[in-house]
Amino acid sequence: MILDKAVALITGGAQGFGKEFARCLLSNGSRVVVADMNKELGNSFQEECSKVYGHNKMKFVYCDVTNSQELNRTFELARTEFGGLDIVCNNAGIISTKTSDVKPQIAVNLTAVIEGTYKGIELMSKSSGGNGGLVVNVASAAGFQMMPGAPVYTSTKHAVVAFTRSFKHLPVFATDGVRVNCLCPFFCDTTMLRNAEKENPEMKKNFEALPKIQIKDVVKAFMQCVEDDNMNAKAVAIMPPDNVYTLVFPPAVPKL
Ligand SMILES: NC(=O)c1ccc[n+]([C@@H]2O[C@H](COP(=O)([O-])OP(=O)(O)OC[C@H]3O[C@@H](n4cnc5c(N)ncnc54)[C@H](O)[C@@H]3O)[C@@H](O)[C@H]2O)c1
Repeated sequence: MILDKAVALITGGAQGFGKEFARCLLSNGSRVVVADMNKELGNSFQEECSKVYGHNKMKFVYCDVTNSQELNRTFELARTEFGGLDIVCNNAGIISTKTSDVKPQIAVNLTAVIEGTYKGIELMSKSSGGNGGLVVNVASAAGFQMMPGAPVYTSTKHAVVAFTRSFKHLPVFATDGVRVNCLCPFFCDTTMLRNAEKENPEMKKNFEALPKIQIKDVVKAFMQCVEDDNMNAKAVAIMPPDNVYTLVFPPAVPKL
């Protein structure tokens, strides 16, 4: 991947992990579309980017990833605005411990990731006129471990890991040049975590008792996915204090 020619689309990139992925790509010369529901943060990030990286290097687009039409329009816009698409990062995510918040979590954390992956493949694949490219889905350590108090979040993240790993058996990489990988970060101090703590004091106690990872190590794992042209259908764990490694599946299963 030639980063100073690359165009990336990052969902949920107005803050947290997505914002740092965007900064890293921009500092390597890429152009980035940030799609997020938070207009205020998105617009101020765009202003910051035009001062730091130059005019028209980063474009913020208001987009609710759970609205399929909006999501598709945003993907198309990345292509028309910047002339192509090379990297898609399906990063937008939410967490809730309320039993009433089942559908929104599935919609943001899973359905939008699946739709974003397929739309990215459609636009980047060689058979449809693209140059190939990369999808990075942001799962979680809750994608391979249980997260107490958050069964729905845990389910969605397990599903994202399984969905991503399934691309090992699909010809997208071999024939169309699109790689699909995912990240599995442990807890990190972002707005999402602070919102969860506010919603549920039990959660706050759990989080406080656990070590955290740093965003720079999540960015390192993201860049590993970007830079390793042979990496496909892999899940990268980011565990405290600073361990970044590719997960090996499946776990040992008893012989029957
Ligand atoms: N922070 C952690 O501890 C942690 C750990 C593992 C995985 N993750 C995952 O990392 C990803 C990023 O999380 P973060 O910690 O940076 O959180 P964050 O809250 O800082 O950022 C998430 C962004 O997603 C946006 N978003 C939420 N719903 C959206 C929607 N429907 N449409 C468009 N944008 C939407 C928010 O506006 C926000 O800007 C998420 O998928 C999260 O599940 C986070």
